Amino acid sequence: MPRFMDLVKGRRSIRSYQDRAIPADLVNKCVRAALYAPTACNRQRVRIIIASGEVKDNLVSGALGAVPVRNSWASQAPVMAVFAVDRDILVHRIASGLKKIQYDFMDVGIAGEHFVLQATELGLGTCWIGWFKQSRAEEILDIPGNWNIYAMITLGYPASEPGKKKIIPESDAVIFRNGEGDE
Ligand SMILES: Cc1cc2nc3c(=O)[nH]c(=O)nc-3n(C[C@H](O)[C@H](O)[C@H](O)COP(=O)(O)O)c2cc1C
Repeated sequence: MPRFMDLVKGRRSIRSYQDRAIPADLVNKCVRAALYAPTACNRQRVRIIIASGEVKDNLVSGALGAVPVRNSWASQAPVMAVFAVDRDILVHRIASGLKKIQYDFMDVGIAGEHFVLQATELGLGTCWIGWFKQSRAEEILDIPGNWNIYAMITLGYPASEPGKKKIIPESDAVIFRNGEGDE
């Protein structure tokens, strides 16, 4: 089993996939990892739609194809995991409104990344997709009215090796405060 930092470094956005189905139990493992994610007030309102076959094709042509950045490479992935939130009145409407923090975005982000890291451990490739038309996706998937779709993640066996990722220097991203005269 890869060590955590190897897993984190090994995860890259994959945009080309083998023409190979994913065993259902592997998809289930990714889903379960997502369901263990923390959620605001532990409401657990993240919903995942696993789209494959012609529904996935319709998503790619209809929902991804309806925006300026089309992500047409996504047609190669055998599965598209669609992340939605069944919006909770207390947390996702009232608390979010008061605090000006979008808890539903955060819930999806954390759950999605659990999904992605589990997929990476299983040798599967993923790519987050933020460019799609929400209303078309909701129509195609015929989801309940209170669910809002915030992200999609492609899933499949990678057809290319991702390179090493270069990250910004830590000094650009982190500041320390300990009350003892930091600069
Ligand atoms: C919220 C979010 C939305 C994204 N949307 C897209 C997208 O629509 N199309 C795409 O090709 N990549 C998308 N990406 C992937 C980023 O481009 C990618 O994470 C970034 O370039 C860093 O590369 P890496 O994932 O290989 O580390 C998205 C990533 C995130 C987190």
